[in-house]
Amino acid sequence: MSTKKKKFYITTPIYYVNDQPHIGHSYTTIAADVLARYRRIQKDKVFFSVGVDEHGAKIEEAAEKKGKTPKQLCDENSKIFEKIWQDLNISYDNFIRTTDPYHKKIVQKVLKILYNQGIIYKGIYEGLYCVGCEQYKTKSDLVNGKCPEHQTKPMVVKEENYIFKLSQFENILREKIEKDEFEIRPKERKKEVLQFLKNGLQDISISRQRVKWGVVLPFDKAHTAYVWVDAFLNYLTVIGWDGNAKKFPKFWPPDLQLMSKDILRVHATIWPALLLALNIPLPKKLFVHGYFTIDTQKMSKTIGNVIWPNEMIEKFGVDGTRYLLLSACPFGRDGDISREKLLEKYNADLAKGLGNLTARVITLTAKNPPARSRYSVSGGKVNKEIKKIQKNYKQAMDEFKLNSALEEIWKLIGFCDRYIEKEKPWEQKDNQLSVINDLLIALSNIAEMLEPFLPETSEKILKQIKSKSKGKPLFPRI
Ligand code: MSP
Repeated sequence: MSTKKKKFYITTPIYYVNDQPHIGHSYTTIAADVLARYRRIQKDKVFFSVGVDEHGAKIEEAAEKKGKTPKQLCDENSKIFEKIWQDLNISYDNFIRTTDPYHKKIVQKVLKILYNQGIIYKGIYEGLYCVGCEQYKTKSDLVNGKCPEHQTKPMVVKEENYIFKLSQFENILREKIEKDEFEIRPKERKKEVLQFLKNGLQDISISRQRVKWGVVLPFDKAHTAYVWVDAFLNYLTVIGWDGNAKKFPKFWPPDLQLMSKDILRVHATIWPALLLALNIPLPKKLFVHGYFTIDTQKMSKTIGNVIWPNEMIEKFGVDGTRYLLLSACPFGRDGDISREKLLEKYNADLAKGLGNLTARVITLTAKNPPARSRYSVSGGKVNKEIKKIQKNYKQAMDEFKLNSALEEIWKLIGFCDRYIEKEKPWEQKDNQLSVINDLLIALSNIAEMLEPFLPETSEKILKQIKSKSKGKPLFPRI
């Protein structure tokens, strides 16, 4: 058997720095962190990249509104992104900023290659464009003439631009997506992309004369690169690619790219087309998770209903925040969040469920330490239940059903609560010590399964088991 470790390269989108991250960005990033940690526990060689998307009209406009230069805004906000990811215990391997000189140099190198190949040509581009999305729109994308995401009318762009022959890749993309050589999941999202491809792919403009805040085209200094071309290449530069199309860093290609539905279409068309044009292998899998609404409304600053990660960390702690976001809805489906629901779930699942069980088991152990100091799995009903749950948990994790994996852990918590009620191990009976031993085994399994999700809590529980002494409440009731 080969002892070679499996590699696992996982990416999040690089977020726009026009504002600070909210819980939508946090959700994707925490989910990626859970998967990265899970694979590290499996001893895979993991590379987990995150970063920020700093160029383009959206950032230029945001900076102007705030009376700052784009550079100032990017410097300030990218620091905040990085700080919040650290606060949320995100175990990323590299954080990329698209204004990094190294990245910009490679973007220019790639543009030149494409231009020399004739895949980029000069022409007049005319089309609809939403600056909020930084994406091209077709009439059928609009609702009452407006972008449904931003509630704004898209601009009509008519400029002499450099154009990318996207249409050329339509058939090959369709084939690769259909055959899952370039996998898009969940299945409904794959269908959605194939449906979109049925209408045909149009060539797109990949340069701007009006936008100054961007990577300058090496063959025409009057233009900057379309922000998505610049942004996509982060997935290559973040692992140290030097622009040589015949040689890639060992982590290439990404094994999993996470995002939400808002940016699936560009990730399923422009991104792989760029790679095909460069003769670079495609990412293995895109996974599209759902979109959060707050009290059934779109999360927006204008509506004033945005939930910020700091607010959640202050109230629920880091692991509380990680749990509440990931358990909020099935991974891959849209979900609705409200402050009341978050609080309720915190008290029920964390203060009461996990926190309470840990405190009870450790208290029992401190008073009646079982003779066995190593908690090998004992026979019987508890053992069977643990085995069953471990199996379901693993299956859920391997299928990216993160919320289901959490539910399995909570099933074991519920099982232990019922076991305690039934066996009453505080009473001095023959089986008292063996019941406590069973509970310790179950609790240490709970802690192990929790590790990718709630790394600090997992460690605290294991420490308490080892020292047989109770710590501070894991999740104080609010
Ligand atoms: N800069 C581009 C991505 C370039 S990647 C090469 C961009 N940035 S973004 O800041 O708008 O981030 C979009 C992503 O943020 C979504 O795809 C999703 O991962 C996350 N989310 C933003 N709002 C969200 C919700 N309301 N709910 C869930 N995820 C959300 O697009």
